[in-house]
Amino acid sequence: MIREIVVYPDKRLKLISKEVKLFNGALHDLLDDMYETMCAKNGVGLAAIQVGVEQRVLIINVPIEAKEGEADQPKENTLEMINPVIIEQDGAEKYQEGCLSIPGVYEDVERSKHVKVEYLDRDGNPQTIDDDAFLAVAIQHEIDHLNGKVFIEKLSYIKRKKFEKEWKRKLKEG
Ligand code: CO
Repeated sequence: MIREIVVYPDKRLKLISKEVKLFNGALHDLLDDMYETMCAKNGVGLAAIQVGVEQRVLIINVPIEAKEGEADQPKENTLEMINPVIIEQDGAEKYQEGCLSIPGVYEDVERSKHVKVEYLDRDGNPQTIDDDAFLAVAIQHEIDHLNGKVFIEKLSYIKRKKFEKEWKRKLKEG
């Protein structure tokens, strides 16, 4: 089921999401719905709070080169992370980011180049991932959501002010 996306500046985006304790059918439904919602909106990542669920759950679509006639976002290529914790990070890299909660806005953001992350999969099994490219950026962006932060908070004061002004106008226009 496609769920409604929470759009900035909705206050829910500021919530610190809670740790998942139960790895049950409700969690699996949430993950499946998040996948459907992410695909429907052509996103590459989604945190549970972006569909209004205050839990430390995120998904990221791992990009692949799709063959003709194949889906370019197959479900088996979707990384599902529950209660993720960054245990190592270093380096710095700038990437252009976007967010389904701030549609149409793309800005360069600097983050760690490399991260090592521990998390649980949908069945509660511990996993580790190490990355220094697309995934590293996406994981940091989504973990920020779990901590009540959105990527535009990382912009300079001037850029942020410009964004807020333009966003207000955009919301007014509908
Ligand atoms: Co986002």
